[in-house]
Amino acid sequence: MELNTEEQIRRNRDFCKSPFGEEREPSDQQKQLPQPPLCKPAQSDRRIPLGQDFRPVLTQTDFLTILERRASQRFYKDAPMTLDQLSFLLWATQGVKALRGNHYATLRTVPSGGARHAFETYLAVQRVQGLDAGVYHYLPLEHALEPIGPLEDPAQQIVAAVHGQKWAGGCAVAFLYSFVPYRAEWRYSTSAHRVALIDVGHVVQNLYLACEAIGCGTCAVAAIDQPVADALCQVDGDEEFIVYAAPVGLSDPEKNQTGNQQLYAQTIAQSNEVSPLKK
Ligand SMILES: Cc1cc2nc3c(=O)[nH]c(=O)nc-3n(C[C@H](O)[C@H](O)[C@H](O)COP(=O)(O)O)c2cc1C
Repeated sequence: MELNTEEQIRRNRDFCKSPFGEEREPSDQQKQLPQPPLCKPAQSDRRIPLGQDFRPVLTQTDFLTILERRASQRFYKDAPMTLDQLSFLLWATQGVKALRGNHYATLRTVPSGGARHAFETYLAVQRVQGLDAGVYHYLPLEHALEPIGPLEDPAQQIVAAVHGQKWAGGCAVAFLYSFVPYRAEWRYSTSAHRVALIDVGHVVQNLYLACEAIGCGTCAVAAIDQPVADALCQVDGDEEFIVYAAPVGLSDPEKNQTGNQQLYAQTIAQSNEVSPLKK
């Protein structure tokens, strides 16, 4: 039955309220069913190893300055990012620091309800030194990338995935986060979904702060085109689907200020039309 807008709003408000204690059945974990993998297994043997010496890429280590400067950056330098910068951002957002118990959970650089970490990170790469334009999947347990497929027109494909927001076509790389529901449902059943959406906010907040620390900028993007983003990352849209995106590039404060002024002067529909600035 199709809901009218008022009913949909009511339903969505209810979704935001805590369902804990209202589960009708035990979760699969309580039923002692096998635990799903901690991370999505690699799809091939191809690997791009990533460095773990992060200190040399840091350009700002003063935490107060990082907090003060954190802002959404949508307009970037045209120069490429380095693989070491990308490696740092991947580790800062989903890097694994330890395993809890006998492969029961990963402990990462972000918190997660029940340590489920029910996300995968995909990259739509446009301009990163040492990487061909294409889609890549991050393997947190190995701290490596696996190539998923080439991108013929990365700017256009990134813009399409973020619902036609043209500014995103100027990024060096777009981060796309998928949700793997069963990883969280196994433990939390019907309470899993609200927790996961809270969790993914931590991931992108770390991305904002990590970008500030290395002279990069990002902007959180919830307005994605679901089928396009899922197809871009080659996920099935049911057992795994994209929930959040974040284009990233080298900071250009002046360009960003001009671009943001243009963007904020528009209505929501017209702001999609603000293109990357040329300099
Ligand atoms: C959950 C979330 C979704 C967002 N989605 C978009 C988006 O689709 N497009 C966009 O241009 N900005 C998006 N933003 C960025 C906000 O517009 C931005 O954070 C806000 O204007 C405040 O600016 P500041 O981040 O510079 O403080 C999003 C931010 C968040 C946290």
